[in-house]
Amino acid sequence: MGRTPSGRILLIISGGIAAYKSLELIRRLRDRDIAVRAVLTRAGAQFVTPLAVASLAGDKVYEELFSLTDEAEMGHIRLSREADLVVVAPATADLMAKMAGGHADDLASTALLATDKPVLLAPAMNPEMWQHPATQRNVERLHRDGVSMVGPAAGDMACGEVGTGRMAEPETILEAILVRLGGSGTLAARRAVVTSGPTHEPIDPVRYIANRSSGRQGHAIAAALAAAGADVTLVTGPVNLATPPGVTTVQVETAREMLEAVQTTLPADIAVCAAAVADWRPEQAASGKLKKTDGTGAPLVSLTTNPDILKTLAAPGPQRPRLVVGFAAETDDLDANARAKLARKGCDWLLANDVSPATGTFGGARNTVTLYRQDGGRETWPELDKTAVADRLVASIAAELGTATP
Ligand code: C5P
Repeated sequence: MGRTPSGRILLIISGGIAAYKSLELIRRLRDRDIAVRAVLTRAGAQFVTPLAVASLAGDKVYEELFSLTDEAEMGHIRLSREADLVVVAPATADLMAKMAGGHADDLASTALLATDKPVLLAPAMNPEMWQHPATQRNVERLHRDGVSMVGPAAGDMACGEVGTGRMAEPETILEAILVRLGGSGTLAARRAVVTSGPTHEPIDPVRYIANRSSGRQGHAIAAALAAAGADVTLVTGPVNLATPPGVTTVQVETAREMLEAVQTTLPADIAVCAAAVADWRPEQAASGKLKKTDGTGAPLVSLTTNPDILKTLAAPGPQRPRLVVGFAAETDDLDANARAKLARKGCDWLLANDVSPATGTFGGARNTVTLYRQDGGRETWPELDKTAVADRLVASIAAELGTATP
């Protein structure tokens, strides 16, 4: 990781057993010279004491919206604005529902509604609560409102159940905070281009070849790069996601359109190819809808190879971005396949994702990524969700480029 930013965090601790991990988070933030002002909800105070929070934060703890002393010392509006970043850890289903609905009936929800600063949530709840359509609706809503999230992670829960709902570890939350605090500096003046989502390759005016890419990883990377201060263009295939805040988004359909859009953004310092580009497209898209004609059987669609955007970007030349990053999903022989792909594509880094059934990655929330560098370096990251993968990647990019002169 690059330079250690210092800054000011407003940390909201809501009511969940994971609140004890927030004490550890405060300690780690203070170790980094980051000032922490804490708000403890009434439910949060059932899990950690105000005294423990205040002792670690080195500041008083704010608890009541209508407390004369809290309001006299620091009004809730000022409280929410005198921070560089508002972090909610743990973020309960209830507090997230309040945020999604715009409620403001206690100090935490009021500060969250009044803030003009970026907000980072570390959700923590029972897996069924996390999966519930109401919670997922709120998550979607909050994403659209520009709120970012780290976690939840998968694993054993304090309630005895197993699934996705554990709060991200303090280390992971710290990393997400550092990326966001670096916004004014680490990647300022750097230009980045990110590809995301699937491509749609037309067969005829109504049919196309596509894949199941959601675009979440690429969008999270674009958002994290922007949060770190980079000037980001996101070139995305058709996805059902909100445009990340602070990012210039170009929507395309086909691989050829994606390549063209990417090339018009050059020169760039950083290119991250996270799109699931279709390898092939129909050689000739029919101009009219193909008809089902009795007796003639199915039409034969002949395919041709699409351009490889990553390989094109990574090819030597005056326009080559300084750092070109690709992705690879591998089911077996991760190491050999990743190294071969790194060499074949010519990119600087390759993030290889082990999707073999034994890892539980496929269809699950677990994601184990290994970063391969052209110089032979290799780093396996712990199980992370897509936001955390994005944060860690951006922290690595900042370490590589951040302090060097553009
Ligand atoms: O060859 P494979 O599809 O496994 O490589 C994956 C990497 O290459 C990803 O980073 C993806 O975004 C990129 N890619 C690309 N253009 C293609 C195919 C893959 O940019 N046509």
